[in-house]
Amino acid sequence: MAITTVGVIGAGQMGNGIAHVAALAGLDVVLVDVKAEAVAKALSTIGKNLDRQVAKGGIDAGAKDAAMARIQGGTDMSALSAADIVIEAATEREEVKLSIFKQVVPLLKADAILASNTSSISITRLAAATDRPHRFIGMHFMNPVPVMKLVEIIRGIATDDATFEAVQALADKMGKTTAVAQDYPAFIVNRVLIPMINEAVQALQEGVGNVESIDAALKLGAAHPMGPLALGDFIGLDTCLAIMRVLHEGMGDSKYRPSPLLVKHVEAGWLGKKTGRGFYDYSQDPPRPTR
Ligand code: NAI
Repeated sequence: MAITTVGVIGAGQMGNGIAHVAALAGLDVVLVDVKAEAVAKALSTIGKNLDRQVAKGGIDAGAKDAAMARIQGGTDMSALSAADIVIEAATEREEVKLSIFKQVVPLLKADAILASNTSSISITRLAAATDRPHRFIGMHFMNPVPVMKLVEIIRGIATDDATFEAVQALADKMGKTTAVAQDYPAFIVNRVLIPMINEAVQALQEGVGNVESIDAALKLGAAHPMGPLALGDFIGLDTCLAIMRVLHEGMGDSKYRPSPLLVKHVEAGWLGKKTGRGFYDYSQDPPRPTR
């Protein structure tokens, strides 16, 4: 089955990136969100990010205009009836995703694929709440989507081969490299990455190092491009905590216990870059460590 129209649900930081890359690859895109202002902000962000690509010589101005013209944004979910695949990229809360699928499934083409960009929630469980577990799959893009090369593809227990092959071909068309994961809590990338960030927060809590020394140690000592505390701020500390909780509950192992300092940051609303403060203070230029 040829995919020519991609639906994206959720116009936040991931949804706008997925719409951007799909449109640039020549696909028609329907981008929907519950909030009209999220759609407007996403379209403006996509325009600015495409302008940056034009300025750097990566694409020409005509390609930018053509990509923008392929994206139809709005709050009316019925526009998703045109889509061959719908990629859900809404907030990382299971009840939000389940209510979206309940609302959207009756609107879709009978053979449309449903994919979720979830960072950690069981694809099998989400799929079971729809009418098409065999046509349901995890398509996990990395942030920022236009820059990061990887898409992790997660097969639920019922995902069929035709769906897997169509999604692999779509990722190729979008210029991404894929890694295939089985459906276990947090899949591959976040199974390894988020406990490392959590451990860095725990080391900070215990006073093993301060923000600066912990980030410098991993950057210069382990060749990481970003320190783990800066990366946690970039992902969003609320998202990191949500993933640790999925791992803790799903694996039943105390080694995945969220660091109490991570919990405290989220309770304080210090969620990282998006709120202006996390382990760094982003009102300063350059951002200053808070501990
Ligand atoms: P975000 O908070 O930037 O965007 C979420 C969007 O979903 C918001 O615009 C919100 O209005 C919308 N939304 C909420 N309920 C909705 C509904 N019922 N119908 C339609 N739209 C709705 O979040 P972000 O970071 O874009 O994350 C989205 C998904 O992508 C999550 O599942 C997250 O785990 C995953 N993800 C996040 C990454 C990251 O680094 N932030 C990386 C890879 C995946």
